[in-house]
Amino acid sequence: MKFFIDTASLTQIKEAQDLGVLDGVTTNPSLMAKEGISGDERVRQHYIDICDIVDGPVSAEVIATDFEGMVREGEALAALHPNIVVKVPMIRDGVRALKHFSSKGIRTNCTLVFSPGQALLAAKAGATYVSPFIGRLDDVSTDGVELIEKIRTIYDNYGYTTEVLAASIRHPMHIIQCAEVGADVATCPLSAILALFDHPLTTIGLEKFLADHRKAAAAKEKA
Ligand code: G3P
Repeated sequence: MKFFIDTASLTQIKEAQDLGVLDGVTTNPSLMAKEGISGDERVRQHYIDICDIVDGPVSAEVIATDFEGMVREGEALAALHPNIVVKVPMIRDGVRALKHFSSKGIRTNCTLVFSPGQALLAAKAGATYVSPFIGRLDDVSTDGVELIEKIRTIYDNYGYTTEVLAASIRHPMHIIQCAEVGADVATCPLSAILALFDHPLTTIGLEKFLADHRKAAAAKEKA
């Protein structure tokens, strides 16, 4: 399973990169705004800065919602760096844009996916990734992980190569559950990735190993 980090924070991206398990980055307009990144030039430079940190796919989302606008923006984003993946919303013009980008060899991430039918459309249009938002489904009392499972089944039934990118992940159990049902990628907040490292028995076990080592070394010195 690939791990992407879902943030536009360069600090967090660097921290995740240093863990040695990061495969890519996803951003969205809200995450860019959170970092105070606005204005075309600043936005473009920020994407390049992210691509300079992580050698993997970096999703950059279009703002336009009409076909021509998405194509124009998406082509400009894709030209910024070979790592850029154009993120397109799951709307009618978005699906047309996915098809266009796919025919041009530009990688895409279809975002704001909340149903198996939407995921099927994204795959038919040739999306590279599909992003079902599991946390936001859980927020409205709907099982987000179940959606990942359904999309996995549909894609496997027909051999679609679109990768299932579980998004809107909120905690480490989301990552585990998505891995269990076969998501190709999980895009996560840094906190959820870091939480995977922790287990009290690991901490206790390591303390004991080191204490025993110190005791043995002290006994040897005395002898
Ligand atoms: O990048 C899209 C997605 O991961 C958003 O997550 O937490 O805003 O629902 P969230």
